[in-house]
Amino acid sequence: METATAPRRVEHQQTDKGYVPVYTTAVVEQPWESYSADDHATWSTLYQRQRELLEGRASREFLQAQDEMGMNAHMIPRFDQLNEVLGAATGWTLVGVEGLLPELDFFDHLANRRFPVTWWIRRPDQIDYIAEPDMFHDLFGHVPLLMNPVFADYMAAYGRGGVKAHAIGPEALQHLTRLYWYTVEFGLINTPEGLRIYGAGIVSSKGESLYSLESAAPNRIGFDLERIMRTKYRIDTFQKTYFVIDSYEQLMEATSPDFTPIYAALEAQEHLPAGDVQDGDRVFQKGTGEGWADGGDV
Ligand code: PHE
Ligand code: FE
Repeated sequence: METATAPRRVEHQQTDKGYVPVYTTAVVEQPWESYSADDHATWSTLYQRQRELLEGRASREFLQAQDEMGMNAHMIPRFDQLNEVLGAATGWTLVGVEGLLPELDFFDHLANRRFPVTWWIRRPDQIDYIAEPDMFHDLFGHVPLLMNPVFADYMAAYGRGGVKAHAIGPEALQHLTRLYWYTVEFGLINTPEGLRIYGAGIVSSKGESLYSLESAAPNRIGFDLERIMRTKYRIDTFQKTYFVIDSYEQLMEATSPDFTPIYAALEAQEHLPAGDVQDGDRVFQKGTGEGWADGGDV
């Protein structure tokens, strides 16, 4: 009965340009009552599995924030309930969306401390891999660190920076996007206990949680703003390089200068392959490159 009236997610469309998302910019109410038993079971399975894996692997701040927000394996959280805790902590609000947003809409949400969360969760047969962000990636992966005041400010500053880069042009935007990719999505942090994960793309993936920390294949290199902005990345496989911050404060400080002159200077510089190690890199590990596909860096 309930499923008949449940909102339907907008499917992506096959066109002559390939598989493209249908962008819908509207903010939607989370249809919590319409989640099926399968949906809740998918959340439970993933939540339990990742939490177990991430003890001792994810940043302490990340794990603590999940607990503080009241996320758990029982059922899919209600955005409204998370918002009470999150709003009180850092002034951020979760808003439900259909899926990926056009860049400028996304930046505008972030700049105003609204984090867009996909309202639907992957199907049971997509537990291990889904090509596009779903609720598990957005909520489990991105939302916890919004409880951290420094990281919360970083995300809002990124949104304002995105609006600015969008106005400057596509190259500026490409450079800024790489910063998001190598920090918010695939970042590692150095702690007294060793390297830990904070990137949402890693914490929401079983395979990459293990690979990013424990495999000998990828490079692990100290955070360097311009180095990151020059570095291509992978969207179809695990990353060839992970960048390591020393603290969330370092991330905030390093990104606070006006990027306008940096974008201008970078136009004269070559883009670096995803797997390169450069003179001057602070190398935590030089990867063996085992299993890397040729080509495909974007
Ligand atoms: N300082 C950046 C700029 O001038 C804005 C920014 C802050 C971008 C933090 C990313 C992260 O564009
Ligand atoms: Fe993401």
